[in-house]
Amino acid sequence: MKILAIESSCDETAAAVVEDGRDVLSNVVSTQIEKHKIFGGVVPEIASRLHTENISWVVQKALADANCTLDDIDAIGVTYAPGLIGALLVGVNYAKGLALASGKPLVPVHHLRSHIAANYITHKDLKPPFMCLVVSGGNTLLCKVNDYTDFEVIGRTRDDAAGEAMDKAARTLGLPYPGGVNLDKISKDGDNTKYQFPKPRVDGCPLDFSFSGLKTSVINLVHNAEQKGEEVNPADVGASFINGVVNCLCENTEKAMEMTKAKTLVLAGGVSANSVLRSRMETLANKKGWTLYLPDLSLCGDNAAMVGAQGYFEFLKGQRATMALNGKATADISVDYEE
Ligand code: KG4
Repeated sequence: MKILAIESSCDETAAAVVEDGRDVLSNVVSTQIEKHKIFGGVVPEIASRLHTENISWVVQKALADANCTLDDIDAIGVTYAPGLIGALLVGVNYAKGLALASGKPLVPVHHLRSHIAANYITHKDLKPPFMCLVVSGGNTLLCKVNDYTDFEVIGRTRDDAAGEAMDKAARTLGLPYPGGVNLDKISKDGDNTKYQFPKPRVDGCPLDFSFSGLKTSVINLVHNAEQKGEEVNPADVGASFINGVVNCLCENTEKAMEMTKAKTLVLAGGVSANSVLRSRMETLANKKGWTLYLPDLSLCGDNAAMVGAQGYFEFLKGQRATMALNGKATADISVDYEE
């Protein structure tokens, strides 16, 4: 079956046609990066307006690239949560309009579930159950994926997400938005032992993360140096900071794998594009004998192909939305959509 999927949770307007949850017939992403760059981050109101301007042609192009018309589509999948509420509403309302006009079923899709589903496209053999580390701009969590639509969170960040911390570190070093990817690039030749960042622990919750202390310490490091008129090498700061974040991610993931006796590990979300995280997880997986699945780099960031993949499994489970569908800024990954 073919799903037309729509994604507008943050700063990418995206649409795709995906067949049977695994085969991408088209994948169109209109990024707003250039428009937000001068502000150093995503401006929600601008994001919503740009989604409104772009959604029609993005959806039309996704259909055309897949050599389809709406008649060939079996269901419409859309990201309804979590994300920027004004941005989500553009995709949700557009999808509702298409569903109403065409009489096709409307399938609500959770954004983080889709990030995980990007791996079903990359790895045709991947099936739950597995452990997943979800590392995106707004979320960091460890969850047991018991089935395609059954998620159990066993660790989560108590404050900032790993991506948020990466973006703040990049901004402090004067790197342009989007910070995480630029931090990754400039840190490649840096000395990752030059600076020691704190290794936060959450008392009594060994699988939970905390990145706000790391974020504050990189800001303090750079600002203190500036006040003293000292120079810091951005590559060394970046490499040391990424090392600090990756240490936390790897340590908790290792504990989660051991505690649950899982043997298959999957990474998902924008930060799973980070080169250090990917290679450190590969080394760890080899040492521990785990099977590791990493999403294709082209599917780590926000896109609608992953929404079409997860939408397929939500459809099979019977998940449907009516015209009452609303966007939600926050929603737990483990809770199914309900009207
Ligand atoms: O998953 P995503 O595209 O958006 C959300 O759904 O939140 O994640 C975006 C995050 C941003 O914080 C971005 O800086 C980070 O992923 N990111 C990276 C890299 N590429 C994207 N962080 C570190 N290294 C990268 N290569």
